[in-house]
Amino acid sequence: MKFLLLLSLVTSLVVNAQQFTTKSPDGTIQLLANLSPDGNVTYSVNYNSRAVILPSSLGIKFKEPAVNLQQFKLVKVDTSNYDETWNTVWGEYRSIRDHHNELVMQLEEKNGSGILVNMIFRVFNEGVGFRYEFPKQDKLLHFIIEDENTEFHLPGDHKAFWIPGDFDSNEYPYNETKLSEVNALSASAEAIAISVRAPFNQNAVQTPLMLKSKDGLYINIHEAALINYPAMNLIIDKSSFTLKSELVPDAVGNKAYMIAPAKTPWRTIIVSDKAKDIIAANRMILNLNDPVKIENTSFIKPQKFVGVWWEMHVGKSSWDYSGGQVGSQQATKVPHGANTANVKRYIDFAAKNGINGVLVEGWNTGWEDWFGKWKEDVFDFVTPYPDYDVNELNRYAASKNVKIICHHETSGSVTNYERWMDTAYRFMNNHGMNSVKTGYVGKIIPRGEHHDGQWMVSHYERVAKKTAQYEIMVDMHESVRLTGLHRTYPNWIASEASRGNEFNAWSVGNPPMHETVLPFTRLMGGPMDYTPGIFQIKMSHYNQEKKEQVHTTLAKQLALYVTMYSPLQMAADLPENYEAHMDAFQFIKDVAVDWDDTKVLQAEPGDYLIISRKAKNSSSWFLGAVTDEQARNFTQSLNFLDVGKKYLAKIYHDAANADWQKNPMAYVIDSFIVDSKTTLKLNLSAGGGTAVSFMIASATDLKTFKSYK
Ligand code: NOJ
Ligand code: CA
Repeated sequence: MKFLLLLSLVTSLVVNAQQFTTKSPDGTIQLLANLSPDGNVTYSVNYNSRAVILPSSLGIKFKEPAVNLQQFKLVKVDTSNYDETWNTVWGEYRSIRDHHNELVMQLEEKNGSGILVNMIFRVFNEGVGFRYEFPKQDKLLHFIIEDENTEFHLPGDHKAFWIPGDFDSNEYPYNETKLSEVNALSASAEAIAISVRAPFNQNAVQTPLMLKSKDGLYINIHEAALINYPAMNLIIDKSSFTLKSELVPDAVGNKAYMIAPAKTPWRTIIVSDKAKDIIAANRMILNLNDPVKIENTSFIKPQKFVGVWWEMHVGKSSWDYSGGQVGSQQATKVPHGANTANVKRYIDFAAKNGINGVLVEGWNTGWEDWFGKWKEDVFDFVTPYPDYDVNELNRYAASKNVKIICHHETSGSVTNYERWMDTAYRFMNNHGMNSVKTGYVGKIIPRGEHHDGQWMVSHYERVAKKTAQYEIMVDMHESVRLTGLHRTYPNWIASEASRGNEFNAWSVGNPPMHETVLPFTRLMGGPMDYTPGIFQIKMSHYNQEKKEQVHTTLAKQLALYVTMYSPLQMAADLPENYEAHMDAFQFIKDVAVDWDDTKVLQAEPGDYLIISRKAKNSSSWFLGAVTDEQARNFTQSLNFLDVGKKYLAKIYHDAANADWQKNPMAYVIDSFIVDSKTTLKLNLSAGGGTAVSFMIASATDLKTFKSYK
């Protein structure tokens, strides 16, 4: 239940000429907003007394009306504080506390237009969010944004975990360099496996941007509640270490079309001297999003799924009926994967192992000519290939208590998808499907639009709303990066929106550090459909000539079910690969996908990460530990377990001689009795990981297994 909404004056407010400060509820973070005598508004942020953001400009330039909102006079300042706890529909936490102090500067543009703008700042214990708001007013109705001139002036040449600024793709591997060493165009040029790239500036990076200062401050810059507005990239001024917002343009170069009253997304700055606190602070992004807007959420169910999917990525079968040209990247023909008998095989495997969903890609006509031609009419989303018996498969799935997950690859032709959406969702309703994976591989139609521009941002929201009307859950691939909108639309259950495991099948792949960075970057905005669980690590298994491989050990693939949060988790490998390792597959069967609580235990971006989570409505805990290319040993207290209870810990870890390159599939499973006083030793191989399940020990367990020493 919601409790307590406090509105009162913030005691820390100091009005000193035109300076206003407010602090986080615990006092560690200070925000200072300043209005200079000539009307410029700047803000700065401190963490205790250390500078996080030096005075940085705020402003927005309109194209129509032609007004540069850069100089203002103050109308009024308001402050308030807020403390409310809300329950999640699903998530890493059962409930989340939103505790912040707010400062609102009501401003009027002072060079003649008289346009009113409110700068709204919220200061949480985790960081700061701020946005521009254009209230209802006589002076402004329709307006076109030419540029948002928000700056983040950093005090030094911080280390950054970055991917190139790009209007169309976020499927890049991460770079770890100083800000002064960012070379986005060169990095983008190397990423040849990404189908559509639109980098635009050598000094541009995407958010979430993860930074570390020389004196050990961790800073994360992102945005929250990206609605009806383009995504924000950041351009680095390498002489002053000022980051400036660069919005994704539309087909004619404009940034956004707005009607007052209107507001921008929140710009977020999360800061801590502990890396693990950054990940836990993704709750701040959720707190800056609107509460759930879907009335009936009972159809939304976190779940695991398998799919007729990886077999296409590894070239064993094909999406297209004729077999053999698309995606499998080989000249010889292979069978069509989405045939009735093969799908039944996956349904059987799912049913046998308590997995709820079976994704089927390549079920509908159009794959023979789907990609790269920028053509408009590609798929209709309702016509199955002749060897895919949709009625029989849905009957069969239902008889086994499994649901088929539909697939809508738009190939970037979004006008086409918009025309088909209602028909396609009705088709799903009529055939017993309540989840869809969408995809946007290719250049966008309307031609000239970008994946991350305002038009597409509104499209993704339309899809979330419309699927909700049809009681459908949606998982979007190649969408804009997430900004916490799953609080508002919890049927938008996941997105890829980053470089997923699939890149390991057919490209240089994801280096071992990749999964130690993603929780600090992409996942700050929401769950990722990373598709973990690849057991058969080397692609030479499928074709001796293949050199590609997953850049982890098998044990690390298990750990990802805990470290890469998603309420929709794929067991991505082929049933036959799991059947060869059912002892390791047991972890995937056991692990939860919805949680009462999450503890980030140890973390350093780009190096390692240990997280434990308590399964929803259960006493079981799960732990995941992952490392980069370095082998690492950890000691980890289990003081998060319920005091006084004995648990059976099943520890799935790298064998002593495991190594992501030389010996990735060597794992060991140990079982011990543990309790909250136990300290575990975790030994992770290069590119390795450990996954642990903790379940209340039965009387037999207590007799069978030794206590951990
Ligand atoms: C890219 C998606 O990420 C992948 O999961 C899918 O199989 C292909 N597009 C084809 O739609
Ligand atoms: Ca993708």
